[in-house]
Amino acid sequence: MTDHDPAPPPGIEIPSAAVEAVRDAEWVTVFTGAGMSAESGLATFRDTDTGLWEQYDPMALATPQAWHDDPALVWAWYQWRARKVLAAQPNAGHRALADLAADRAVMVVTQNVDDLHERAGSDVISHLHGSLFAPRCSHCGHPYHGTDADPTDAVEQLRVEPPTCPICLSTVRPGVVWFGEPLPADQWSSAEKAFAASDVVIVVGTSGIVRPAAGLPERAADAGIGVIEFNPEPSALTRYATHSIRTSAAVGLPALLAAVRQG
Ligand code: OAD
Repeated sequence: MTDHDPAPPPGIEIPSAAVEAVRDAEWVTVFTGAGMSAESGLATFRDTDTGLWEQYDPMALATPQAWHDDPALVWAWYQWRARKVLAAQPNAGHRALADLAADRAVMVVTQNVDDLHERAGSDVISHLHGSLFAPRCSHCGHPYHGTDADPTDAVEQLRVEPPTCPICLSTVRPGVVWFGEPLPADQWSSAEKAFAASDVVIVVGTSGIVRPAAGLPERAADAGIGVIEFNPEPSALTRYATHSIRTSAAVGLPALLAAVRQG
């Protein structure tokens, strides 16, 4: 915890076995989902009323077919999301994970397409579902760095024509994974290695229903690695967890860090 973080509220009990597992670990792999960034003001996907998929149709915005049918609509939607991320700040949970790495290796494997872990100072070993800030050519795959992909300059519109790749003149696409697409092979391989090397796994803020990503903590549990879950609600991964701590990321992770440091 950094000096400017408030002390964790009283009443958040982290089971002593979970604290010891983290304290003794040389390598902690942290698997995060949208709930990790909820207290930074970024919407999750499936929470009732507030989730993005409650308001927006994933089939019209997050599939290769959607991109084929209306690239300007899809591009504008991801630019809008990127602007929201740029206006957000890492929360106390992100910062606690970064601080936890002072005494052990803490490797983040995230399903999130934001950059809040990085801005908090964590090593992100894998962005399984890509990044809002890594657009690339839809044809040749070349990374695109043109200023017209800069979300800070993007105008708030329903449709924005995507930029053109300077190499092959095809359309530049968002650097995220859409439904029906394979995960990036390099990100998957890094994530698998991080899980295999871990002494303990911490799962934060994911419904755990999107595969293959959600299979990683399951496999770790099957291999006998302890899994500690932080989520205010039960998830599909709860049954694989050694400890399920029913609190939010920005409350639970600072409490874990404080308890680990007390030992
Ligand atoms: P979901 O929206 O499916 O799940 C969010 C989880 O966060 C839920 O289990 C909530 O209970 C929990 N949660 C909410 N607020 C929280 C908080 N403050 N602290 C901790 N947990 C909290 O989001 P993901 O599991 O990330 O994929 O969704 C997985 C994938 O589905 C995403 O990466 C995205 C989406 O479609 C793609 O876009 C490819």
